[in-house]
Amino acid sequence: MIVVPGPASYELGKKIAEKLGVKAYPVKHRIFPDGESYIKFEVSIQNETVVIVQTNAPDNDRKLMQLLIMSKAAKTLGAKKVIAVVPYLAYARQDKQFLDGEAIAFDIVLGLLESAGIDDLIVVDVHNETVLKELQPNHMMMVHPLSAIVVIAEYLKENGFDGAYSLSPDVGRKDIVSSASSVMGGGFAFFEKIRDLHTGETTMKVKDININGKKAVVFDDIISSGGTMAKAIKGLKDQGASNVAAACTHPLLTFGAEEKLMDGGADIIISTDTVESKYGQVTVAGMIADYLKGML
Ligand code: R5P
Repeated sequence: MIVVPGPASYELGKKIAEKLGVKAYPVKHRIFPDGESYIKFEVSIQNETVVIVQTNAPDNDRKLMQLLIMSKAAKTLGAKKVIAVVPYLAYARQDKQFLDGEAIAFDIVLGLLESAGIDDLIVVDVHNETVLKELQPNHMMMVHPLSAIVVIAEYLKENGFDGAYSLSPDVGRKDIVSSASSVMGGGFAFFEKIRDLHTGETTMKVKDININGKKAVVFDDIISSGGTMAKAIKGLKDQGASNVAAACTHPLLTFGAEEKLMDGGADIIISTDTVESKYGQVTVAGMIADYLKGML
C-alpha cells in the first residue's frame, strides 16, 4: 500500500502513513500562473494499491480538481487499485434538488470521482449518510462513510466535558449525538427552531431537558459561517448552561465564523483535522488507518 498525500492534506496524509507504518510519498505540486494545478507522482505505483489523501476544503473546486488529476494519473500510471481518502467531500450538502432548476451536485461529484478511476472512496461525516446510501447504487465505486463523533467525544471526555449533555442542531443528527452521549454520559437531545412571527428571527431551543448549570457540547458535521452553531450555543446559554463546547468534524470556518461562535457564548471550539485549521485537536488519522488496514 502506497500512501500519497495530496496538496490539501500533506499533514493528515503523513499522519495516516505513520499510523500504517509506511512511508508517505506526497505528490509534487504547483499552481500555474492562470490558476491551474500541476501534479506529479514522485514514486512508482505500478501494480500497487494507492491511497490518495486529499480533502476538499476551501478552495473546494481546486482541491476537487487536484483529486481528479491525482486519481486519473494513478490509474494511468498502472495502480492496481485506487483508494481515495477524502475526509471532507465537496458538494455533499447539495445532495437534493431543493428547487426546480437545480442539479444534485453531490451525485455529479461522485460520478466524476468514479470516472477518474477511484475504486474506493473513504469519507468522514458526510453531510447526509442516508442520501449517500441512496445515491451509491448509481455508481460502481464503493463509498465508505466513517464518523469521527466517537473520537471527538473521547477527547471531550478527557478534557473537561465528562458527563456533559450532547446536543445536535437538528433531529437529523440524533443518532450521532446518541453515540457521543454513550462515550461522555450526560444524555443527549436536539434543538428545535422557533421563529418569532413578528420579527421573523429564528432561535434554537432544547426541548424537554433542564440544562441549567450543566455542561453541554453541540456537535455538527460542519461549521462554515458559524451561524447554526452560534444560535445553538446562544440558546443553551440563554437556558442557563454553564459551559458550552462547539464541536464539529469539518472546521471550514469561513470568514467571521469564530467571532460569531464567541459572541454566541462558546467556551471552546473543538474540531478534527479533516480540514486544516488552527483547531484540529482531534486527529482522524488513527481511525482512517485502522479502516484501511481492514481493507487489505
Ligand atoms: C447543515 O445542515 C449542516 O449540518 C451544518 O449545520 C451547516 O452546514 C453549518 O453551516 P453554517 O456554519 O454556515 O451555519
